[in-house]
Amino acid sequence: MRRSLSLLDEVIKHVDVGLKTVTGSLPANPRFSYPADSSDEALSRADKIRSSQLMRINHCGEVCAQGLYHGQSSTARSKETRKHLAAAAEDERKHLIWCQTRLQELDSHTSFLNPIWYAASWMTGAVTGLFGDKISLGFIAATEEEVCQHLDRHLDELPSADDRSRAIIDAMKADEAHHQQDAISQGGTEFPAAIKRAMALQAKVMTETTRWV
Ligand SMILES: [Fe+2]
Ligand SMILES: [Fe+2]
Repeated sequence: MRRSLSLLDEVIKHVDVGLKTVTGSLPANPRFSYPADSSDEALSRADKIRSSQLMRINHCGEVCAQGLYHGQSSTARSKETRKHLAAAAEDERKHLIWCQTRLQELDSHTSFLNPIWYAASWMTGAVTGLFGDKISLGFIAATEEEVCQHLDRHLDELPSADDRSRAIIDAMKADEAHHQQDAISQGGTEFPAAIKRAMALQAKVMTETTRWV
């Protein structure tokens, strides 16, 4: 009875976090400082649209990161791995709020597809966790490597006048690189190039759909 109650608590906790993530109501930690402290240049309408598309993709990426980390922690074997996942998820929550704030500044919206991507990511994370902590941590390292490359592409694509979005992406990229290194130093398995290519392809589906909706 005690066991089933704690399982129910766990399910309720995951559903609660999922709903807050996709509805943009995760509480901001007071320790989070917003990296976009530069003054807001008057962006043209075309620049605003382009920046919004990129920040919407990045916001969706952070929704996916929440799903992956929470899914992985639900099936992680060791306490150390769960602690590591929780610390990284906290950074991703910070990124999520930054992207959400920037989209509001750009008078735009988050993706309508976020609930689908969150659910798919949670399932992917939970299944990955079942393969063991080394594979799970290796999956994080491979994902974060892809995220860093993706953020580099966005830095190139951003309108040159949009310093505020650039500051956010720069700060996110520094954190993602740490997540990758930490996952490897915690014992994550290095994934083969073919799997990384398949992961990049799946990420491309997300970025291309989210850019517009
Ligand atoms: Fe992130
Ligand atoms: Fe990350």
